[in-house]
Amino acid sequence: MNRLSNKVALISGGARGIGEYTARLFVKEGATVIIGDKDLSRCEKTIKELEKEGYDCSALLLDVTKESDWIDAISHIESKYNKLDILVNNAGIYSTIPIEETPLDDFNSVISVNLTGLFLGTKHSIPALRKAGGGSIVNLSSTAGLVGNSGSGAYGASKGGVRSFTKYTAVQHAVENIRANSIHPGPIETDMLADKFSDLESRSASESKIPMGRIGTAKEVAMAILFLASDESSYITGAELTIDGGLTAK
Ligand SMILES: NC(=O)c1ccc[n+]([C@@H]2O[C@H](COP(=O)([O-])OP(=O)(O)OC[C@H]3O[C@@H](n4cnc5c(N)ncnc54)[C@H](O)[C@@H]3O)[C@@H](O)[C@H]2O)c1
Repeated sequence: MNRLSNKVALISGGARGIGEYTARLFVKEGATVIIGDKDLSRCEKTIKELEKEGYDCSALLLDVTKESDWIDAISHIESKYNKLDILVNNAGIYSTIPIEETPLDDFNSVISVNLTGLFLGTKHSIPALRKAGGGSIVNLSSTAGLVGNSGSGAYGASKGGVRSFTKYTAVQHAVENIRANSIHPGPIETDMLADKFSDLESRSASESKIPMGRIGTAKEVAMAILFLASDESSYITGAELTIDGGLTAK
């Protein structure tokens, strides 16, 4: 039995990395998947490949910072698929600039994609999830949303905001059977951190801080997203799940 049979899922930032892996996993578990990303050409490559394998998926242009893009995306999904059951707020950008050196524009753009984009997605998906009789929102935060670190305060602030916003969503919509949970990955092998990890010294410095001694994979994050998106987690809402090889357990 597929774990997401008859579910319609929208994944933001699904053109690559964790979002792309999640889209591939969701279709294999029986979901109809819509990938929304600002890099539409990269989404279309994945879609063509999955369609060839007989899976039900499509892509749409979505800049998560634009409210009109979210309104158009949800209305397109409702008219084409009649419902929405799952939203994965995954789109994100990274920053490593230390607080003192961060230009205001950089701070604002990290908040705008990672936090405002997630707020807009949640706001405009809730009516559709309600109409479907309930649903699941999975928000990508980070260990940076739980603990402090060197580097960018903007990234940490955006991901801390995601953690808290998720709990507000969970509390306000529990009665409608709309669940919301946050995922907190540690360092994961994707293009987002490719520059950082191409430097072997920096890679082994990161790995040495992780009790399991290695960087995580997109698959390991996607498996947790799948669990929280599926009905297997039907009594879990407002929770935060770390996927970090023990990094924040110390
Ligand atoms: N890779 C990690 O180590 C790590 C760790 C913790 C949390 N995360 C979080 O997981 C999520 C996915 O990260 P990833 O590693 O797959 O990153 P990635 O850079 O590989 O992919 C991010 C995706 O988001 C899309 N995107 C960026 N801005 C967008 C916008 N304005 N509108 C729509 N799409 C946009 C990109 O086009 C890309 O497809 C992010 O929210 C990230 O902060 C990643």
